[in-house]
Amino acid sequence: MTRMRYGQRAFLALIALAVNGCTLIGMDRIPPDISRYPSLAGKFADRFPVGAAVEPAQLDSAEGYLLRWHFNSVVAENAMKPPRLQPAEGRFDFSGADRIVEFAERRGMKVRGHTLLWHEETPEWYWQGANGAPASAEQVLERLRRHIRVVVGRYRGRVYVWDVVNEVVDPSRPDCLRDDRWRRVVGAGYVEQALRYAHDADPEARLFVNDYNTTEPRKRACLERLASDLLASGVPLHGIGHQMHVDLDKPSAAEVDETLSRFAALGLENQITELDLTLGADPAAPGKELLARQATRYKELFAVFVRHPDVKAVTFWGISDAHTWRNMGRATGIDQPLLFDATQRPKPAFFAVAKEPPT
Ligand code: XIL
Repeated sequence: MTRMRYGQRAFLALIALAVNGCTLIGMDRIPPDISRYPSLAGKFADRFPVGAAVEPAQLDSAEGYLLRWHFNSVVAENAMKPPRLQPAEGRFDFSGADRIVEFAERRGMKVRGHTLLWHEETPEWYWQGANGAPASAEQVLERLRRHIRVVVGRYRGRVYVWDVVNEVVDPSRPDCLRDDRWRRVVGAGYVEQALRYAHDADPEARLFVNDYNTTEPRKRACLERLASDLLASGVPLHGIGHQMHVDLDKPSAAEVDETLSRFAALGLENQITELDLTLGADPAAPGKELLARQATRYKELFAVFVRHPDVKAVTFWGISDAHTWRNMGRATGIDQPLLFDATQRPKPAFFAVAKEPPT
């Protein structure tokens, strides 16, 4: 199977053949209960790729069919985080990440890289110096440089965009940077260094700063300040990743619109990187009314994304309600934040976004 160019897959979906009741798209046979609905990625093919966060095991699960049919971009939900890729210093494990990248490449899907530096998932060995002493700033930076060189180098030309740093902004701090070990051990310069290392490893990759609550005015102001300072110093920064873990009330479509406009005005790209819309943790199944409100909210948000030429990708944090971090440690189905339900059926939110009625 030769590699497909981006966009080709969505096109193929339109001319897909029916074989034994299944729809054949590239190398994949998609069951009719999935292919009877219009492809989400096909719908936005001339605007932006539509992606999903995945674990390697999902590729060959029932959700894998939804992924093949509705999405033309992927990101590793966890498989590219530093403790997975380099569990011990110098010992790299690319098994999970490679599975995802190879799956995507064979199907002409785009791959986002997430993430090279995150305070929540920095392996302990980063901080250990010789003889039980804490690591120095230089040692930590050298480890970061090596991690980025090896990881970004391996996926050079294959991962087109990296969330280089994740969740570094904290508006309650005078310098807007989270007061974590990165800040305390290395100093504020670690953000700039991470971006420079990534650029050295793949000069073509788009480099992003990714964060949550980017629509919240104080946090947004901090992120704007960080981004403008980086740009003013000539640091390779190309865009802002807006996680967009939203709920039924906030943020408003107008706040999202305003946020995207502000970063576009700095000359940056925007990507929606982790979209989901929680219905809360009530163990009772959400009724029609909540699902309808979720649909309306998703529709409003997509209307904003589509209006913004600076929005270059929209990625959901999961494929269906069968697997979502919102239910971490709880039973499947308690929260239902995505467009497809836990049995992979499209929800009202899917129809609101994909518009065309089912055939
Ligand atoms: C989450 C994953 O979904 C979970 O499986 C994992 O246990 C913790 O991380 N913001 C991010 C993502 O940038 O990496 C997080 O993913 C969700 C919040």
